[in-house]
Amino acid sequence: MTQTIAFLGATGGCTNACLAYTLQNGHNAIALARNPEKLTTQLLSQPGLTQSILDKHLRIIQGDARDIETVMKTLIVSTTEHGTDPTLVTHIISGIGGTGQLVLSKPSPCAQIPIRLPTIPHITIPNPHITEESTAALLAALRRIAEQFTCFDAYAAVAPRVTIISSTGIKKGVKDVPMLSKPLYAALDVPHKDKMEMERLLAAEQEREESLLCGGLVIVRPSLLGGDHKIAEPGMDSGLGRLRVGTDREPEVGYTVGRALVGEWIYKEVVKGGGDRWVGEGVILTE
Ligand SMILES: NC(=O)c1ccc[n+]([C@@H]2O[C@H](COP(=O)([O-])OP(=O)(O)OC[C@H]3O[C@@H](n4cnc5c(N)ncnc54)[C@H](OP(=O)(O)O)[C@@H]3O)[C@@H](O)[C@H]2O)c1
Repeated sequence: MTQTIAFLGATGGCTNACLAYTLQNGHNAIALARNPEKLTTQLLSQPGLTQSILDKHLRIIQGDARDIETVMKTLIVSTTEHGTDPTLVTHIISGIGGTGQLVLSKPSPCAQIPIRLPTIPHITIPNPHITEESTAALLAALRRIAEQFTCFDAYAAVAPRVTIISSTGIKKGVKDVPMLSKPLYAALDVPHKDKMEMERLLAAEQEREESLLCGGLVIVRPSLLGGDHKIAEPGMDSGLGRLRVGTDREPEVGYTVGRALVGEWIYKEVVKGGGDRWVGEGVILTE
């Protein structure tokens, strides 16, 4: 069945790979991108994707993932003029995040002294609240969309399944990080706090009686990411066999995982497979 999938953060490696598999396999996609040209260039560098495939199967919505109207446009496939319910995407795949920068110094606390002082090395991101803010916008967009339906049950019948990329090392009581990686994870405090806030928002929404996430939520927890968006040439071994898959209840522990493998797993298990098996789980992906 041809379905339409929404992508947020598709210029990121994991999500771009998932989008590439989605388009390669004849599904339709709507992708939100701040820079459509960057997205198109990345997709055309993927094996098997051509401009005519993009023209036929991909709609790009230009804008910011914190803008509710922009997110709504990404989730609605079509509306009718006669007051009937809109048609929605079947899945939302989100890999919104920020590129980490290593910080080794901080400004002097005295404004008159223009020097930087050494600080504990840590990794920060340009907007330390980006995943939290974009998740809040996603939930607000789903709320406004649900209100366009004749009743909540009509929305619930077609509510998109949401798959969101979070991280290992942030869920209390889950041992998904090797001992040797712990100092590095300590330095990732800023992006990890952002992911925790995202998960807190999602958990609170799931608790609500008429939850906007009633289509199901899958949280993906990659270990440290390596590689880029490039998927394997058709017919070549992508290395998916190396991937170890755990859950918060039965964790797998590992150091790193390739971005393209994460995208391939999301495509195979969620987009193609529907994702029923993973709904309600935190899915740990590592090599
Ligand atoms: N790095 C790691 O080791 C690691 C480990 C575990 C989990 N993660 C998380 O895994 C996810 C995927 O990582 P990745 O490396 O594949 O991707 P990434 O490079 O972190 O890509 C982030 C994506 O978010 C988009 N984005 C950021 N701010 C936006 C905004 N305001 N509006 C619209 N789009 C915005 C970026 O768009 P632009 O191209 O316009 O910037 C990009 O598409 C991220 O959430 C990341 O934090 C990372």
